[in-house]
Amino acid sequence: MTSKIAIVGAGMTGSTSAHWLAEREIADLVLVDIVEGMPQGKALDLQEALPVVGKDVSVVGTNDFAATKGSDIVVITAGVPRKPGMSREDLLTINAKIVSDATLSALKYSPDAIFIVLTNPLDTMAYLAMKIGKLPRERIVGQAGILDSARMRAFVALETGVSVENIDCYVMGGHGDEMVPLTRHSNVAGVPLREYLPADKLEAIVNRTRKGGGEIVNLLKTGSAYYAPAVAVAQMAEAILKDKHLIIPASASMQGEYGLKDMFFGVPVQLGRNGVEKIIEYTLDAQEKAALEKSAAAVKESISVMQGLVKI
Ligand code: APR
Repeated sequence: MTSKIAIVGAGMTGSTSAHWLAEREIADLVLVDIVEGMPQGKALDLQEALPVVGKDVSVVGTNDFAATKGSDIVVITAGVPRKPGMSREDLLTINAKIVSDATLSALKYSPDAIFIVLTNPLDTMAYLAMKIGKLPRERIVGQAGILDSARMRAFVALETGVSVENIDCYVMGGHGDEMVPLTRHSNVAGVPLREYLPADKLEAIVNRTRKGGGEIVNLLKTGSAYYAPAVAVAQMAEAILKDKHLIIPASASMQGEYGLKDMFFGVPVQLGRNGVEKIIEYTLDAQEKAALEKSAAAVKESISVMQGLVKI
């Protein structure tokens, strides 16, 4: 392979990202983690699976960032989940340190890489990585929007019985309970969801989408979602490496778009070989604008808490 992707954090999301990426056969993969043996074992297992599906990709597991040298893309999934008794601030402090170290270590060996951040709280961690790594805005993007939109698409498909391929959904805003599923723009084969579904069904889908992450956490009890976040990574990486100019919802650095500045926020982003090429600005109605403002306030609050805890 001529392209290389480093995945920092070989836990559930990192290793599942490697799985989806290997199937796409778009880049050699390096899994990095602090746990000894685990990334090596997972990488070897995946390497041994690839003859069965006929994919020629190298998969390396390591505890040493040196093996990530020359990566085109760095995916950051390293972090700890929130445990019982841990405050939001505790989580922020711990993950901020992990994400800062991961960003700087990866940049040392891949100074030109494009970063895809997944560690939560997502918009805050992506903002931190950009600041700490002094990255230009186009070279860093947070994964959340494809996941949130895919959840909504799945729920619409379950409700309507229509193929997921006919269902387009757009979710904007921060990756939290205040996210904004855009029911006016979302559609089933071109028919707006607001026309396709009765209001009560649509409202239930919007609420379930907003709480989609929590629904999985409550069921799993020992972790959070990983299949859907990981496949979103694969789609984003492919859009970048193949220079597809693909428009997807993702968390990007705001520099005046939607009236927002100095923060990351979930918006429609055009991805290509140089990373974030463009941020698409939808025309929003008053209700949508108000919902986005509420979501932006929640992200700003998280960023300001982080800034009080970490020097950037
Ligand atoms: N460097 C590299 N890896 C690290 C570091 C570090 N400094 N600190 C922790 N890790 C690793 C852990 O050892 C673990 O293997 O990060 C991995 C995280 O994996 P999981 O605990 O399985 O968590 P996962 O479900 O993959 O979620 C990772 O993505 O979607 C988000 O909310 C989620 O923030 C979380 C992140």
